[in-house]
Amino acid sequence: MPERSLETPVGCETPVAGVAPPTLATARLSLRAPAGSDVARIAALAGNREVTRFLARLPHPYTAADARDWLAYLERARGREIAFALDDGTGLIGVISFRALDETPEIGYWLGRAYWGKGYMSEAARVALGWLFGATATQAVAARAIGVNTASQAVLSRAGFTRAGSDTAGERDLHFRLDRAAFFRLHDDMNGTAADRAAQKATQR
Ligand SMILES: CC(C)(COP(=O)(O)OP(=O)(O)OC[C@H]1O[C@@H](n2cnc3c(N)ncnc32)[C@H](O)[C@@H]1OP(=O)(O)O)[C@@H](O)C(=O)NCCC(=O)NCCS
Repeated sequence: MPERSLETPVGCETPVAGVAPPTLATARLSLRAPAGSDVARIAALAGNREVTRFLARLPHPYTAADARDWLAYLERARGREIAFALDDGTGLIGVISFRALDETPEIGYWLGRAYWGKGYMSEAARVALGWLFGATATQAVAARAIGVNTASQAVLSRAGFTRAGSDTAGERDLHFRLDRAAFFRLHDDMNGTAADRAAQKATQR
């Protein structure tokens, strides 16, 4: 069976032009493909242990070589993983990614320490999820957060994620899930497919 990817979304109404991330806009940010010119910013921001301590996939210390490796990895992982640079106009301030696009996509994100607590990630996650559900046939997105990471759990809850599945090690490793229908019910200004809009109308009756 051919591997499903963003290039060949099954039952998808909206064609996805290529597998590179599109540029999306929120009120304050643009979400765009990360580029070689972001390497210094990624290394500086992800070099802060406060940022990476909850991120199992990011090494510490984090160097420019790690940032370059990550960009090269994204190229190899096209169709399976996609990442957006969050840009406030001064340059990259954080990242949102979706991995396991060929299974149940899992969202991951981080912001530079100076940008926390300003609602940036809630704003960006909503638009990134709106794109994923709107432009592909993705039925559900998964997420994980450590119990003490209340900021991340607040971001997930605002986007519509609820607790799911079996958590390992008690409250340490929490699993979350967001279904497509739940997303479009909560964010009814986002454009889904005709089927999503019909389902939305049916629940509004
Ligand atoms: C998690 C993270 C992306 C949140 O981004 P953010 O833009 O600061 O989040 P927001 O401003 O959208 O805030 C979301 C909520 O968390 C709360 N919050 C923000 N920073 C917080 C903190 N340090 N402690 C507790 N709550 C916090 C906000 O008040 C807000 O709550 P509300 O929805 O009730 O108003 C950011 O803290 C971060 O990059 N952390 C390190 C990396 C990480 O943990 N990634 C996720 C791994 S699962």
